[in-house]
Amino acid sequence: MEQPYNGGEDKVKFFLDSAKIDEVKYAYEYLGFDGVTTNPRHIQNSGKPFLSVLDEFAEWAVKAGIEGAETFPISVEINPHLEHHEEMVETGVTIAAMSKNFVIKIACTEEGIIASRILESRGIPTNVTLVFSPSQALLPAKNKAMFVSPFVGWKESSGEESFAYVERIVRIFRTYSFRTQVIAAALRTGRQIAEAAAIGAHITTCGLSVYQESLRHPFTDYGIGVFTDAWDKTETERV
Ligand code: E4P
Repeated sequence: MEQPYNGGEDKVKFFLDSAKIDEVKYAYEYLGFDGVTTNPRHIQNSGKPFLSVLDEFAEWAVKAGIEGAETFPISVEINPHLEHHEEMVETGVTIAAMSKNFVIKIACTEEGIIASRILESRGIPTNVTLVFSPSQALLPAKNKAMFVSPFVGWKESSGEESFAYVERIVRIFRTYSFRTQVIAAALRTGRQIAEAAAIGAHITTCGLSVYQESLRHPFTDYGIGVFTDAWDKTETERV
């Protein structure tokens, strides 16, 4: 039986969907996050050039002592203009040479799957992204992609069912012991984070504010108020 990349560890992992190094440092150092996913929109939102963002991540991972894609994977999406697998592979090899943490993120097209297969065969991990059906996820898994990323939030926005297909992907992977891990991506709410974990997705990814919002509950705030009031009405010192 093939071992998954996480060595069989059976805990849901939290990835941060961001290209902002300060957010990544915070999520790793203070919240114990397990990895990062980026995409061209996140790089754009960082306000920095693509290669500068990559340099920052590469340098930080070394300083933080978390080198290696199996320790702390950072997905970097290749130029979406590329259409042929040869050019995708060439770009992937160049990006992977910048950091041992980089995972090459490639759209789930036929050419993208070929590129993922070639990169994986050369020891370069890949994340096949923009997955919207179980059939799309199968071939990347057969060809040993490290990750596939089904986009929950985008399906939800378009009014389609958003979790049954992710659950089906997870079930197929478990049935055949594929080592590929499922990243439930583009999550928008705390309910979706919990649902991703409940259906057995290996990883959740979304923005920091979505994770932060998912930690809040009005009863928690209410309870703090109740207990603060009681605390203030009680003597602290021994009599
Ligand atoms: C996942 O890997 C993607 O980067 C991400 O979830 C894309 O969705 P969003 O940018 O719409 O959240």
